[in-house]
Amino acid sequence: MAILIDETKRVLVQGVTGREGRARTRLMREYGTNVVGGVTPGKGGQSVLGVPVFNTPQEAVNSLGNIDISVLFVPAAGVKDAAISAIDAGIKLTVLVPDRVPVWDAMEIAAAAKANGAMFLGPNTLGALSPGKAVVGMIGGRAESARQWFKPGIPKGVGVISRSGGMASSTGYYLGQAGVRISTIVHIGGDAVLGVRIPDAALMFEADPFTEAIVIFGEIGSSQEEELAQLIVDRKVTKPVIAYIGGKAAREGTRFSHAGAIIEGGRGTHAGKVKALREAGVAVVDSFGELPEAVVNILTQMKGQSLMSEADRKATWNTAITRVEPNRVGVRGYDIAELMGRVSFGAAVYLILSGDLPSPAIARLMDAILVASIDHGATPPSALAARTVASTGATLSAAVAAGIMSINRHHGGAIEDCARQLKTIGDRATRESISLDESAARTLTAMRETGERMPGFGHRYHTKDPRTARLFELASEAGVDGVHMQAARAVEKAFASTKKALPINVDGAIGAILADLGMNPAAFNGIFMIARTPGLVTHVIEEQARERPMRRIDPVNHGYDGPPPRSMPRTSAS
Ligand SMILES: CC(C)(COP(=O)(O)OP(=O)(O)OC[C@H]1O[C@@H](n2cnc3c(N)ncnc32)[C@H](O)[C@@H]1OP(=O)(O)O)[C@@H](O)C(=O)NCCC(=O)NCCS
Repeated sequence: MAILIDETKRVLVQGVTGREGRARTRLMREYGTNVVGGVTPGKGGQSVLGVPVFNTPQEAVNSLGNIDISVLFVPAAGVKDAAISAIDAGIKLTVLVPDRVPVWDAMEIAAAAKANGAMFLGPNTLGALSPGKAVVGMIGGRAESARQWFKPGIPKGVGVISRSGGMASSTGYYLGQAGVRISTIVHIGGDAVLGVRIPDAALMFEADPFTEAIVIFGEIGSSQEEELAQLIVDRKVTKPVIAYIGGKAAREGTRFSHAGAIIEGGRGTHAGKVKALREAGVAVVDSFGELPEAVVNILTQMKGQSLMSEADRKATWNTAITRVEPNRVGVRGYDIAELMGRVSFGAAVYLILSGDLPSPAIARLMDAILVASIDHGATPPSALAARTVASTGATLSAAVAAGIMSINRHHGGAIEDCARQLKTIGDRATRESISLDESAARTLTAMRETGERMPGFGHRYHTKDPRTARLFELASEAGVDGVHMQAARAVEKAFASTKKALPINVDGAIGAILADLGMNPAAFNGIFMIARTPGLVTHVIEEQARERPMRRIDPVNHGYDGPPPRSMPRTSAS
């Protein structure tokens, strides 16, 4: 995961037909950004690089549906109107790239954002980039260079917050050279009035499970670094922070490159910032050149082991999953021989996907998730596909692959879709200051109006899915009860109050649990595939052993001749 931007965010480009808008749209898309539309007044109906152009953000939303981020490449004089029209269209993050935006205009944008529960980054920002995922704005230049410079935060990385645009990229570059992975680089902009400031970005990184430490490129002027120090003292930011503060030589009244970098009335001095941060426990380096090593040292201390060898540093690419050496296989750092016999398969799946070993209760929960999905008879599309391909004389691998290939948005995909909807319900409750019950009810009403179905609720077979209650019981034993689980219960309540009582099904329960565990939604469908593979292998072997080649497979009309219902043998633990 990352903050502000990733590949799932739907991005609008305002000023898309202009010189910079056009060029950056191409670069952002090449890096993986999901640019869904553009806006230039009077140019609606055109398209830029296949991206449809609209006259206003509202027209774009009406035509394209939800848009998460709008990035502006509009000359300074038009920024206020452009930003406010995006905010009014319900877009929750606007990224204001232009420089020279009048301070008064920035204040009006701030007021509009506040009134609409929206955020803005900038003005005068290069934007944000989450390595390996997406970029919004101008960080990194060509996609190819950005890919080489910034190492993706898999499973975790450091978050970079910079008050300088050029140094945002340089910090990412030098950290990458030192082998440090990055979750997101954020350039907050150099102006006096800003949307997202250092303390805001630090709180976002604190909440991001895939950020392990925070790197700050600060400078003189404003009180942002001092406010961050206070957040650390108040234990609102607990992740390690490593900082460099520019402008040591600046005298009072001297502007240091950016409008916001000025010492006034003795406030915002270099010495004052360094003191406040050091007293809060931040590792503040004296020169920028020391920053990468300081970050490596802190990460090393955190992990109790050296991050990278000289050979790793020189390699053309790295993987953070498994290191194979003569006589040792280290999965996420753990010797595989030590894991074998000591951790369950569910715990190992959690380890490889998230990067860390789970607690025993979470390991039990992961096992239960895998067991819950191991098979659901011969009728699901994956089993039918695997059997059909097996009946042609295909190999085991081809037939199982056919089954796996049928696991998509409508088969297994409800896990991820449901988790996303539950997050939307949670976000809406916070944004609109309403209860989760109210947020769930409003979301369901809106979905009903557009004919959308709530994924993860109801089942074509079960009226009460036997797997769900057990999963929730194990989740509760593991202390997993975050906003997704709470939102799931709120949705059930909202359904119960209508004529159509739809209980949460196994996909919905798994989605809510995995999301509350902080697992990456991109892996959810993969977890279902991992779980379902033993079932598919068995279907293929049975098909090949028992049935005629090329038989007509009735998708529903089949009998069962396996063992009768039986109970687990009692063990001392059960
Ligand atoms: C924003 C900026 C990049 C635009 O430069 P540009 O692309 O050369 O400008 P252009 O005139 O070619 O394009 C601007 C487009 O915005 C459009 N536009 C104007 N008002 C608009 C609005 N309200 N909504 C959408 N588009 C709008 C214009 O019509 C124009 O498109 P067109 O050429 O098709 O008519 C430039 O003004 C700027 O601020 N540069 C500095 C940015 C920077 O360095 N920031 C970070 C510093 S660390």
